[in-house]
Amino acid sequence: MRALSQLKTLLSPEPLQAALSRLHGLGHIVRSPFGRTTRVAAPTVTLDGDCHAGRVYLVGAGSGDVELLTLKAARLLQQADAVVYDRLVGDDVLALIPAGHERYYVGKERGHHSVPQAEIGALLVKLAGQGKSVVRLKGGDPGVFGRMGEELAALAEAGVEAEIVPGITAASAAAAGMGIPLTDRAHAQQLRFVTAQLCRKGGEPDWAELARQDETLIFYMGLTKVEAICTGLRRAGLPDDWPIMLVANASLPEQASLVGTLADMPEKLAASPLPSPCLIVVGSVVRMVERSPAAMTNTPAEPSR
Ligand SMILES: C[S@@+](CC[C@H](N)C(=O)[O-])C[C@H]1O[C@@H](n2cnc3c(N)ncnc32)[C@H](O)[C@@H]1O
Repeated sequence: MRALSQLKTLLSPEPLQAALSRLHGLGHIVRSPFGRTTRVAAPTVTLDGDCHAGRVYLVGAGSGDVELLTLKAARLLQQADAVVYDRLVGDDVLALIPAGHERYYVGKERGHHSVPQAEIGALLVKLAGQGKSVVRLKGGDPGVFGRMGEELAALAEAGVEAEIVPGITAASAAAAGMGIPLTDRAHAQQLRFVTAQLCRKGGEPDWAELARQDETLIFYMGLTKVEAICTGLRRAGLPDDWPIMLVANASLPEQASLVGTLADMPEKLAASPLPSPCLIVVGSVVRMVERSPAAMTNTPAEPSR
């Protein structure tokens, strides 16, 4: 909550001027290891950009921690006439929307289906057609398993202007929270984002294609598919002791994780279930967790195991 109030302070009109004058007013000195020093001009960070009437901004809300929101996303949330948001957007992020501004929840309610995609598209078109500036706020990055393509198509068909503001995707937040990189010269030269929705009867992914030892594999939406993923990858040739990690609520105080192997992860998960949302990381970069000085150090409600 401290982070949220700091962000609000930065974005509120009065201290904003002071914050900007600080950002505009200061330069800094860069010292090189070879003894040279250079004076660098002050950075220019403008938090006073436009928010156009009749335009839809497809904005990434990041992985949950309000401090991982981009400055542009925070600004647009404060300026937009209407915000249309999903289930994975955190309360701290929503708290940045000024009281009295319109907000529409289009995520899944417990035990109910999500609002159909066509209805979401129609809502965005309607709000923009009323001359409102609209933020379509999605968890993580709107372009990663976010169905943004369908919304862009609906807007294009109706002739509505759109702009994309990227966000921190869950893979980046999970790796950071566990103190490891997603790629590493010694471990993984490739990185692949996969939807686990395909890991079901009749929708098998190409396991042989995925079972590589020079790659980090990230499975989104896979908490109920862990066994299928471990079995599929082992059958396709990855060793039983190949590393896998599960990270739930990445970047949030309640982040929880399990680190194991393709052989023992299904059993570990059954013994210590993790909540949703949860991300699955497969690859030898996971071996770096043990020695990382950068793993999240705050005490989660459910401690990392
Ligand atoms: C529909 S996808 C949306 C992904 C999102 N657009 C992104 O870029 O992170 C939802 C899946 O993202 C993952 N996810 C989202 N936020 C997460 C978080 N904070 N911690 C772990 N996994 C997360 C989970 O696998 C979840 O099932």
